Order: sequence, then C-alpha cells, then structure tokens
Amino acid sequence: MSAITTEKLTKRFISRKRAATGASGSAGADTAGVHGNGGPSGNGAGGRGASGLLGRFRRPAKSETLAVDAIDLDLREGEIFGLLGPNGAGKTTTIRMLCTLLEPTSGRATVAGYDVVKEADKVRASIGVVLSGERAVYWKLTGRENLQYYAALYHIPPAAARKRIAEILAVVNLADRADEFVERYSSGMKQRLTLAKGLLNNPPVLLLDEPTIGLDPQSARNIREFILCLNKEHGKTVILTTHYMEEADQLCDRVGIIDHGRIIALDSPKVLKSRIKEEDVVEVEVKNAAPDLARRIRSIEQVNQVTAQVTDPTVGAAALRVHAQDGRKVLPSVLAQIAAADGVVQFVKVSEPTLEDVFISLTGKALRD
Ligand SMILES: Nc1ncnc2c1ncn2[C@@H]1O[C@H](COP(=O)(O)OP(=O)(O)O)[C@@H](O)[C@H]1O
Ligand SMILES: [Mg+2]
Repeated sequence: MSAITTEKLTKRFISRKRAATGASGSAGADTAGVHGNGGPSGNGAGGRGASGLLGRFRRPAKSETLAVDAIDLDLREGEIFGLLGPNGAGKTTTIRMLCTLLEPTSGRATVAGYDVVKEADKVRASIGVVLSGERAVYWKLTGRENLQYYAALYHIPPAAARKRIAEILAVVNLADRADEFVERYSSGMKQRLTLAKGLLNNPPVLLLDEPTIGLDPQSARNIREFILCLNKEHGKTVILTTHYMEEADQLCDRVGIIDHGRIIALDSPKVLKSRIKEEDVVEVEVKNAAPDLARRIRSIEQVNQVTAQVTDPTVGAAALRVHAQDGRKVLPSVLAQIAAADGVVQFVKVSEPTLEDVFISLTGKALRD
C-alpha cells in the first residue's frame, strides 16, 4: 500500500495584501543578484523578479499565489522521501495539506490510506508532525511534563503514557535530562523533544518540515541520524522537506525537487545526479569578484550554466559553480575571465555534480539564497 498519495494536489492563496507574499519567493531566490541571465526559461532571473513585482503593484487589491501546483506523489511504505526546494517553493504548504492543517484548493491526497479532507481524524491518528518555525513545546515545563501533556491530549491512559514516554525519551536520547526545564535545553535537544512529541501516538508516518533548520551542524547531524534510525529500526515512513541538498542526498531514498509549486524532478538522489553526469562542475572561489563576473563567465561558449554565491561581501568573496561539458577544457577561459575582471582565485576544483547542480541545471538558479 502507498503511505502517501497525492493527485493534482493544488493550493492557491488569495491574499488582500498587494505584492508582498508572491513576489518574495522568486525574488529571494536570486542569490543577491550576482547571477543574472541564461536560465533554461530564457528569462533573466533578476529581471523576472523585478517585473513580477511591478506587475503585482499595478494590480488591484487581491493577489493570488499558486503555492502548490497540481502535485502528484506516490510514497511507498517504509521510505524516506524528501521534498527539496528553495524558500517559497511550496514545501510547507504541501506538508500542511498532508497533515490536515490546510484544505487543498483542488486535487486530493491520502495519508496511510485515508483522505486528508474526508477522513482528517484518521489521518491525524496516523501521523506524527514536526512543523518548522513553530514553538511546539513549552519551555516552562520539563521535557517529561511536555510529553505527559501531549499524551493526555492523545487520550493515552496515564499508566500507558508513563511507559510510552520513558521509551520515547530513551529513543531521542533525552532520558537523563527529561526532568529539566526545556528552557535549559540546547536547540538540538528542543528539536529532539519536538520529534519525541510527534512519536507519542506511535504513528506509521512522520511529516517533518525542515527538521534541521536553524540547528548547529552537530545537532543537525544528530537529528539526521535519529531520523534514519526511526526509519530503519522503527519502520517509520518519513516525508521531510529541506532546502539543504546534502540532507536530501544523505537521508532520502527518493527526492522530489520542487520549485514554484511544481515537482520538476523525482527520483533517487543517485539517479538524479547521474542525469547530469555528462556535465562537469567547476567550483571556483574568488576574491574581489566583480558583480558581473557570473555573466562574463556565462558568455564563454562551452559554459552551460553559472551560479555565484557571495560568501563574504566585505572582501567581495564569491563561490562560483560553472557547469560545462568538459570542466578541464573550459578552465583556462574561466580563469582568464576572472583575471580580466581583477578577481583573485582562491580555490579551484573540477567535481562531480551534486543535487544542488541538478537543481541549477533544471532551473538555472541556485537552491540557497
Ligand atoms: N497563508 C498564506 N497566505 C498567502 N500566501 C502564502 C501563505 N502561506 C504560504 N504562502 C505563499 O505560498 C508560497 C509557498 O510557500 P511555502 O509553502 O511556505 O514555501 P516553502 O515552505 O517551500 O518555503 C510562497 O510564495 C508563500 O509566500
Ligand atoms: Mg517552508
């Protein structure tokens, strides 16, 4: 049986405010304006953002955002599925529809075999949810008290709850800190407690929205290992969202790449990466990078795609990713362009494509802003 299915799942937001929400997604994805034209759409990324904004301002009061655009998914039981995409792509909206917090505008979805609209209660009994950006646990209670409170909301009888809570605290590695106030927890511990809360009803399906966002690298690694353990040892089906391509690569059996509300590619990380295997990626770190450096490099004939990420604006440091059929062949021209623009090369490497590069190759822009 499928753990989650969606058929043309769509969410349209109508908001009274002008411009604000809809434009932010696409404008924000434009890596500080360093990379400009040349996406497969043929549209300048920066230009599109600007004209979109103007268009919205001219319109009357109501604006419409197509946050999720006819998504079809079929998740297998026991898999970890990742929705990978930039800010504003529609990841959270998808999760909120799947966990019954938002009603779809059209289309349908089932979770654990139940319809998210018609059988919302049964869906809720079958899922554990961790939403990002929401304070899900009470800081003035201890970890154990938090779980007791939520267990009561699930109507778990006190004796059974005590046992279940002790088990879960061990699973999330919080047993020895369970009786401390949450306000004294580190951010990683708080996130583990939030996950523990999502496990109280022993759900077969977990929906995790950006489970590692805002965590330090060590805590993020712990949470990822923990998600893997929940999947491998406790048999949970997991759908998670992320804009970290390493996370999707490490954790997920399959990844759906989402942009502007649409799934633009869906497969295992390995297959996704092999699709652009015939391309090399030249990584270059440059100091004193001119604002139009990416455009200059893109004008080199053999170059397919370029993105630039400002890493330190005070010294004009940028990390470039240059896609080309043969990285070694194109390298001298790339270095020549950098030198001509008075850039100073700090680091060069010809490497294999990552999931980030799959995204760049599909959309002409970088995943992170
Ligand atoms: N409640 C809302 N009202 C209006 N627009 C919204 C609302 N929630 C999200 N959006 C818009 O829908 C799009 C997708 O948002 P979201 O699902 O949060 O993206 P992601 O989680 O991938 O960053 C964005 O353009 C966002 O601004
Ligand atoms: Mg989100």
